Amino acid sequence: MRGQLSMGKTLIVGISGSSGVLLGIKLLEFLWGINYETHLIITSPAESIIPYETEYEVEYVKKLATKTYDNSDLFAPIASGSFRTDAMVVIPCTMKTLGGIASGYSDNLLLRSADVCLKERRRLILVARETPLSLIHIENMAKVTRAGAVVLPPVLSFYSKPKKVEDMVNYIIGKVLDVLEIENKLYERWKGD
Ligand SMILES: Cc1cc2nc3c(=O)[nH]c(=O)nc-3n(C[C@H](O)[C@H](O)[C@H](O)COP(=O)(O)O)c2cc1C
Repeated sequence: MRGQLSMGKTLIVGISGSSGVLLGIKLLEFLWGINYETHLIITSPAESIIPYETEYEVEYVKKLATKTYDNSDLFAPIASGSFRTDAMVVIPCTMKTLGGIASGYSDNLLLRSADVCLKERRRLILVARETPLSLIHIENMAKVTRAGAVVLPPVLSFYSKPKKVEDMVNYIIGKVLDVLEIENKLYERWKGD
């Protein structure tokens, strides 16, 4: 099977229902391209936003992952800390999902998997997308950061002189991959003057 234990590394990818679902799709395409093992959960709102905001179909996105789970499937292997994974990325991450992770309210597979990552001290990256932010959002970000997560908002960058939306998307994906220590050349690194 494509991606199966290829690099001895396993990544859980969660796509939740915020604007910017394209970020999750582009991350999966990159990982598919390097044959990386991925376990995917797409929330129900994200399944509606994918065809609304992008040119992709949900079925195409699911096929990019090594394995895809239903978000209600709390019997899935990734719901348990005994199943070995290395890290998880929620990309994009809604304020609702952020709130669920911050409060430990694990009533779906995405939230449970993130909870497991934190309790097992595994890397958890949240590409939290909302603007402007309320104090509740900011406090939830502080809470998950204290618990060990990395909050990585999809913030625009201009020093690399982007010309297309694709350049901006690649910059965010590159930053996520950097935190995961996955080699990439998706954006121009700052070399100094
Ligand atoms: C088109 C669209 C765009 C949305 N964008 C955002 C967003 O950028 N950030 C956010 O926190 N919620 C956003 N929402 C609201 C979430 O989809 C909603 O809170 C949902 O309950 C999140 O559930 P989930 O986290 O399980 O996917 C958006 C909803 C729609 C329909």
